Amino acid sequence: MSAKRLPLTCVALNAAVDQTVLCDNFNVDAVNRGQGMRLEAGGKGVNVAAFLASSGSDVAVTGFLGSDNAAIFEELFQRQGITDRMIRLPGATRTGVKIVDLVRGVTTDINLPGLAPSPQNVENLFAVLHAQATPGAWFVLSGSLPPGVAPDLYAQIIHLLRVSGCQTVLDTSGAALKQALKAGPTMLKPNLAELQEMVNLPLSPADLPGVVAAAKGLFCDGLERVVVSMGSKGALLVAPGQVLHAVPPAVTVCSTVGAGDALVAGLVGSLCRGMDLPACMRRAVAFSVACVTAEQRGLPDESVIAGLAEQVRVESL
Ligand SMILES: Nc1ncnc2c1ncn2[C@@H]1O[C@H](COP(=O)(O)OP(=O)(O)OP(=O)(O)O)[C@@H](O)[C@H]1O
Ligand SMILES: [Mg+2]
Repeated sequence: MSAKRLPLTCVALNAAVDQTVLCDNFNVDAVNRGQGMRLEAGGKGVNVAAFLASSGSDVAVTGFLGSDNAAIFEELFQRQGITDRMIRLPGATRTGVKIVDLVRGVTTDINLPGLAPSPQNVENLFAVLHAQATPGAWFVLSGSLPPGVAPDLYAQIIHLLRVSGCQTVLDTSGAALKQALKAGPTMLKPNLAELQEMVNLPLSPADLPGVVAAAKGLFCDGLERVVVSMGSKGALLVAPGQVLHAVPPAVTVCSTVGAGDALVAGLVGSLCRGMDLPACMRRAVAFSVACVTAEQRGLPDESVIAGLAEQVRVESL
């Protein structure tokens, strides 16, 4: 594709090293014998950047990294050609432990708290964001906030970026999401549970008009689109005057880890290429289907993505 693409930055405030331990028949309160272990650079913002880079987008990443174990992230950024604008903090980036029991088909997650950035670190982050904030540029804000920062940090970031004429996609949850929404991100990507929590109403993919009404209820100054992800039921794009439901083909799922990040990467990568909304939704769902059906991390070739995109049904509601 030769059309000019808009600049793209992923913001990863609470990155994590993912430690996956393979342990069949894992038991608590017992000595277990593991089969293997792998370490990978992760956290939602880093995952979105990696999906974008592997699908041919030029992407920068900023946020915070502990300098003691930055090498695993630096290696990923270098391998994928991701521009590294991460701010280094003293100490080590947190680890998330995943104990995968392939025999019972269950995964146990232990998420450890992240490093707390200092006020000076946050100031440095704002300086980087300011430098990246050319008018029209897209920013992806994904994942939880690190400990110790202001609960409205996403709102502050969105405000700075809006003033600079940039566009933002927000994918977070809980209090960070509620606070950030008030600042008017361009686009929001809640899953059904996150949307439900925001509107305080039970929602079901069997009642799409109910989901659409809940998403419309979030519209505020600045917010142009809400994309609600609904697992195997696909994703719903709600914009003023337009509602699209993108339905994935029936597939055999290997793992749903990172499915939301793949969807966000597919969406924003396609928007940056100037694709229309139905095409963006088709490609975004294709990214997420590639993710849930893959045995390894990462995305297949663009030709495989294009084949999957053809199998995604987009209905106008
Ligand atoms: N079982 C499935 N079959 C087909 N597609 C799926 C399945 N699960 C997820 N997907 C695809 O992945 C997208 C994102 O999944 P989901 O709605 O679970 O996001 P999420 O809850 O935000 O995920 P995450 O845990 O990564 O934050 C869906 O919109 C859909 O396109
Ligand atoms: Mg999610």
